Amino acid sequence: MTESSARRSTGQTQPDVLTPLLRQRESTMVYDPTHVLAPGALRAILEAARWAPSAGNSQPWSFIVGLRGDATHAAIVDLLSTANQAWAPAASAILLTLHQAATDEDHEVSYSDYAMFDLGQAVAHLTVQARSMGLQVRQFGGFDHAGAAARFAVPAHWAVTTGIALGLPGTRGEEWNLPGWVQARSRMPRSRLPLERFVHSGEFGHPADFLG
Ligand SMILES: Cc1cc2nc3c(=O)[nH]c(=O)nc-3n(C[C@H](O)[C@H](O)[C@H](O)COP(=O)(O)O)c2cc1C
Repeated sequence: MTESSARRSTGQTQPDVLTPLLRQRESTMVYDPTHVLAPGALRAILEAARWAPSAGNSQPWSFIVGLRGDATHAAIVDLLSTANQAWAPAASAILLTLHQAATDEDHEVSYSDYAMFDLGQAVAHLTVQARSMGLQVRQFGGFDHAGAAARFAVPAHWAVTTGIALGLPGTRGEEWNLPGWVQARSRMPRSRLPLERFVHSGEFGHPADFLG
């Protein structure tokens, strides 16, 4: 993604204090439907998740990975909400994320209260690794979770959690016949709460002095 397309599609640019990997990250909705994710690239992205920290090194995450053109990708697309079906299928890969939600039948792996937190952290690492390779992701919750658990034979102690579209950001939404609302939404300004709203000192609700 060029700097100019980043500015056009993000509207509000993240501040310069951020590392470029984070400054240029966004939840992309427009993907190049011709891009093919090489196995080595996918492996590197999954390694980033693998090396994320977790409570007691429990590593309570799993990923179901579909590559555009394969049966897993098609099955995930079938499970998406109508809105997500409008943009996500163009992504080179679609992943479902899972976290361990109970101790397994053999009591080999204990449930951790931090399992969903740890999964989120693994996804954040994966996101930054993808960005370092010129790719973007958009996470999503809009899909049939129960249907996914059934379709992919997910054991009862695992919870299907979110989806991740992963691919090369595209800039030719019109040519690729994306619906107008997707093109418009992909250009909407991005915004965030100010630090003062969520950084506290002394007691909750008191903005930290160092924020000025
Ligand atoms: C848990 C989660 C669920 C989300 N669900 C959807 C979704 O179903 N469809 C969608 O288009 N975007 C979804 N998003 C993307 C968010 O809307 C997006 O991250 C947010 O608007 C911030 O955008 P930005 O990362 O570009 O700043 C989801 C993101 C997360 C983390």
